[in-house]
Amino acid sequence: MINELEKDIDRILFSEDDIRGMVKEVADRINLDYAGKKPLLVVLLKGSVLFAADLMRSLVIDCEVDFMKVSSYSGTQSTGVINVVSDLNTDIAGRHVIIVEDIIDTGSTLHKLKGLLAGRHPASLKICTLLDKPSGRKAEVYGDYIGGTVGNEFIVGYGLDLDEKYRNLPYIGVMRNS
Ligand code: IMP
Ligand code: MG
Repeated sequence: MINELEKDIDRILFSEDDIRGMVKEVADRINLDYAGKKPLLVVLLKGSVLFAADLMRSLVIDCEVDFMKVSSYSGTQSTGVINVVSDLNTDIAGRHVIIVEDIIDTGSTLHKLKGLLAGRHPASLKICTLLDKPSGRKAEVYGDYIGGTVGNEFIVGYGLDLDEKYRNLPYIGVMRNS
């Protein structure tokens, strides 16, 4: 069948093979760092779902997963308030928490989320992101585990969307005319 989405993609930035390699590298590091610790993966909906599913398959340590959906209130960056659309079902007190994100851009969402989760007293709190877009950064936040770095361009696929479209592309590409 013809892929209905492909015509909108200018070029492939990370192929399926590239992504497999990135996921494996990140998973190898988490396997080493969290052996015997049973981390909780906090997967941010919706963009991180594909990454999280592949990451989990490459983890050989005991771990758990939960999901969270957050959005930023506009204009509240200074107050650090985020809108929790859907919260965790897991008590994270004393747990080793790894936030799983698709891409860090301005970092404002993650900065605020880190503050919120830190207030629940986890044993540790780290960020694992498939991609980092350092050129977009406004808040001081960094990924502890980063699969790859991208420049200042809008990308879609492998969970990343443009108005909810293109999440199901198996690779990551740059939009035409972006
Ligand atoms: P921020 O770091 O708070 O600006 O938000 C990061 C979120 O913005 C990610 O989780 C994505 O949902 C979205 N995002 C940032 N850059 C891109 C992109 O290039 N393509 C698709 N979504 C993006
Ligand atoms: Mg998004």
